[in-house]
Amino acid sequence: MASCPHSPASERNREPILAVLRNEFSDCKAVLEVGSGSGQHAVWFAAELPWLRWQPSDLAENLAGINAWIDYAGGENVMRPLLLDVRQPPRFGQQYDALFSANTAHIMGIDGVEAMFDLAGRVLTPGGILCLYGPIREGGEFDTDSNRRFDQSLRMQDANMGLRDLEVLEQFAGANHMTRLRRYAMPANNQILIWRKAAGSTEVS
Ligand SMILES: C[S@@+](CC[C@H](N)C(=O)[O-])C[C@H]1O[C@@H](n2cnc3c(N)ncnc32)[C@H](O)[C@@H]1O
Repeated sequence: MASCPHSPASERNREPILAVLRNEFSDCKAVLEVGSGSGQHAVWFAAELPWLRWQPSDLAENLAGINAWIDYAGGENVMRPLLLDVRQPPRFGQQYDALFSANTAHIMGIDGVEAMFDLAGRVLTPGGILCLYGPIREGGEFDTDSNRRFDQSLRMQDANMGLRDLEVLEQFAGANHMTRLRRYAMPANNQILIWRKAAGSTEVS
């Protein structure tokens, strides 16, 4: 427990995200999570959604913390984390019927966001689900002043970070044969966006 990293945000948002995943992933079996961070979501969602096989992943610096959470509280359906930088993805030996990622699109550069959609296009089975959680912008406008301030603070830290435009995400999704199914307003000015990969699209692992 001592080496388990704590993300207060992921402790706050896990219940409302779970309510959406319980429904959206009800027919899924294998989930790839991109940018698992502390690993708390992975361990908790896997425990709460026991029909899923949950595969966490992240950059090298976060793998020890995710492993610490799995050692402490991981069930049989949460896998050891994969080293995964979306900009240099490994070849996957299997496909997934869902890809989940929380609070990553505004952290990784826009090249990373595009690469994450490309990855979803490759590793999702036909009909598979892409589920993104986080704050976004639409029509060039922020939905709230707090998201505007959040975007400014991100860009001051690193010019490559910042809230993404829904229209740009839609372009990336379309390029990978994915169509948006649903959109959920979430607490603290966040959203969940759900895309589905076309049932007839090619599987490439
Ligand atoms: C704000 S944290 C979110 C962590 C966790 N998903 C959560 O909601 O608490 C952003 C995560 O994106 C990951 N990330 C950033 N760039 C990435 C990349 N190129 N490929 C994969 N993950 C990346 C970071 O390592 C970090 O874990």
